[in-house]
Amino acid sequence: MSCTIVVGAQWGDEGKGKIVDSLAAAADVVARWQGGPNAGHSVIHQGETLVLHLVPSGILNPGCRCLIGNGVVVDLARLRDEVAMLEARGIPAREQLGVSATAHLILPYHRAVEACAESGPGAIGTTGRGIGFAYRDKIARTGLRVADLFDRAGFVERADRTLHRLRLEFPEAAQALASMSGAGLHDELAPLAEWLRPLVCDASAELYDAAKRGRRLLLEGAQGTLLDVDHGTYPFVTSSNASAAGATAGVGIGPTLVDEVVGVTKAYTTRVGHGPFPTEMPSDEAARLREAGEEYGATTGRPRRCGWLDLPALRFAVRVNGLTQLVVTKLDVLDGFDEIVVAERYTLDGRDVAGFPATSGELERVQPVWRKFPGWKCATTAARRWAELPAAAREYLEWVEREAGVPITRVSVGAGREAEVSRT
Ligand code: IMP
Repeated sequence: MSCTIVVGAQWGDEGKGKIVDSLAAAADVVARWQGGPNAGHSVIHQGETLVLHLVPSGILNPGCRCLIGNGVVVDLARLRDEVAMLEARGIPAREQLGVSATAHLILPYHRAVEACAESGPGAIGTTGRGIGFAYRDKIARTGLRVADLFDRAGFVERADRTLHRLRLEFPEAAQALASMSGAGLHDELAPLAEWLRPLVCDASAELYDAAKRGRRLLLEGAQGTLLDVDHGTYPFVTSSNASAAGATAGVGIGPTLVDEVVGVTKAYTTRVGHGPFPTEMPSDEAARLREAGEEYGATTGRPRRCGWLDLPALRFAVRVNGLTQLVVTKLDVLDGFDEIVVAERYTLDGRDVAGFPATSGELERVQPVWRKFPGWKCATTAARRWAELPAAAREYLEWVEREAGVPITRVSVGAGREAEVSRT
């Protein structure tokens, strides 16, 4: 039995897509457990970068079954377009893909009210994909799920009830909501539902059976620990459990099946959207890192905020996820820097902070205590073995793993699948 969780250890965009694509070479099934088309997982196929928003990143591995779990929120039109994009490149995505019957749907009214909520005070800086409002309906027990597409009367009645409620709650969205009706939405979705019908599955049962037959499972997270709705920098978070605890609930298996939890962290830190970011760099330094690392959102194209590695945040991710391994990505982006800087710990009002602050307010006020490492000032992209990394890079990484208390098992040194140092 083997089941590995791959989870983001920061604010998302850690390079999970590349790592899952690589680990999937030794997996039989890859399943996404949360998030939706807010995610943008980049994988390289025959020299071309493909960005996956909903389809699991194992899809490039021939024969790898890819499941969208019950914890994911699905935008059907985007899913169809993504599958078409893959098929146009000769990847038989429809044959490999299964979508849980109990995954929730993102509907046009979710996007309309999110646009409204994000235009005023209290904006989070979301990806604008209707994620938060789809999850809100799920928790309020007013959501519509994949299986509901095939019960027109029930779908229409419940969508109309939700529309009625949203019109009262969001008068500013009246215009956008006016043209929507349960029947109209169902008519619009009917061709997509027929397209989806053969893909609908019981992902939980499939994973359980696969595990019992000794198949290797990979559970792929989206976003990252610090965007987790329970453990992240609330309220500047996404609306799902992006940390490892969400994995089993989001695909419908028990935690006893899991044996490894791999945390993915960049060699530095980025964040998109609003919220605290203790190690954020001043804008000129951030611009340099942004250009070197091509740090622009894979989903929205927004420039990412950039900063140094944050050890208190990484230790927190180790604890919350129960990490058993760390993968460090984008080491090569630091190749040209004279000095590599890390936040070793925080102080608040002149006192050391133990652990990770519970509120975004405190996190806004903490002062990082910096530690500096000499840069290695040479290209790491060709390294494939630990010993081939420059001594200064090894010193930096070995310090990080000691402080984090978890072994670094892989280091990514470029965009391509082969650009990786494996330590095992
Ligand atoms: P939402 O998930 O679109 O509701 O956005 C909530 C917050 O999570 C915003 O700060 C987004 O920028 C951030 N976010 C959502 N998805 C991703 C991602 O895949 N990578 C990085 N940040 C993300």
